[in-house]
Amino acid sequence: MSSRVAVVTGSNKGIGLAIVRDLCKKFPGVVYLTARDVGRGGEAVASLSSEGVTAMFHQLDINDLSSITAAAAYFKDKYGGVDVLVNNAGIAFKVADDAPFAVQADVTLKTNFFATRDMLTHFLPIIKAGGRVVNVSSFVGVRTLNMCSAALQQRFRSDDITEDELVTLMQQFVDKTKTAEHKQAGWPETAYGVSKTGLTTLSMILARRLSKERPNDGILLNACCPGWVRTDMAGPKAPKSPEEGAVTPVYLSLLPAGATDPHGKFVSDKEVQVW
Ligand SMILES: NC(=O)c1ccc[n+]([C@@H]2O[C@H](COP(=O)([O-])OP(=O)(O)OC[C@H]3O[C@@H](n4cnc5c(N)ncnc54)[C@H](OP(=O)(O)O)[C@@H]3O)[C@@H](O)[C@H]2O)c1
Repeated sequence: MSSRVAVVTGSNKGIGLAIVRDLCKKFPGVVYLTARDVGRGGEAVASLSSEGVTAMFHQLDINDLSSITAAAAYFKDKYGGVDVLVNNAGIAFKVADDAPFAVQADVTLKTNFFATRDMLTHFLPIIKAGGRVVNVSSFVGVRTLNMCSAALQQRFRSDDITEDELVTLMQQFVDKTKTAEHKQAGWPETAYGVSKTGLTTLSMILARRLSKERPNDGILLNACCPGWVRTDMAGPKAPKSPEEGAVTPVYLSLLPAGATDPHGKFVSDKEVQVW
């Protein structure tokens, strides 16, 4: 029988690296640190090794479809699929960045929503029975949801929103920013927030689909917030260390065999949050 395997995206630094370190200690199987840049990934694996922690490495740039499909084929071939997938890779423009809002919207949604969706499209079919899928979203996505028009809020919270409808809405946000009409269309002025509202909603849609299409496989898929964490993304003033930020993603990755919840939820500090 193949070993069990856990895969963490964007894990050469920050919260992703802390998730890999903790999984290496707690997950009964092989843990893959993945990075878009082979050099940065190799350095991260070496730094873990110097701590006595052994992680494997595979290149994975979520913005590159051929990288996603190559990685999915590798895990399918070598391990028969994936037991734990943590979609952690993400980007955020700095507040001081003066890139036009339309550019920020396009670039941010491309990675945080569309590329993470590509990961899910190609990896969900190879998630093994009993698998755990964790999408690292953000509390900012909840705040952003509450700032959307009533009509958009209703759609994001509904049980019948489809993946196609969500994708259309996310693309509509990006398109509307190009003509500065996004506010009239009910969207708030935060590209990062909208990307994470989309990712949490996508998590709920895909969890419902898993329950329907693979009811006996016991796969649990959730979105979570790591908290406000000291990383290159959030800066040095954040209250949590990367290790503290890893707690909820690792908890969701290691939900015990036979557990039935949480599933399709947004989780923070190991607690299901109101959406
Ligand atoms: N820090 C916080 O307070 C906070 C709060 C809520 C949610 N989050 C979420 O937590 C996750 C991790 O954030 P972080 O704070 O650890 O940020 P970080 O230190 O900036 O790390 C982000 C990681 O994602 C990787 N990445 C970016 N684009 C990628 C791509 N196309 N393919 C593969 N990897 C890619 C980066 O790789 P490179 O080194 O190559 O750039 C890096 O390894 C993100 O999804 C973020 O939105 C963070």
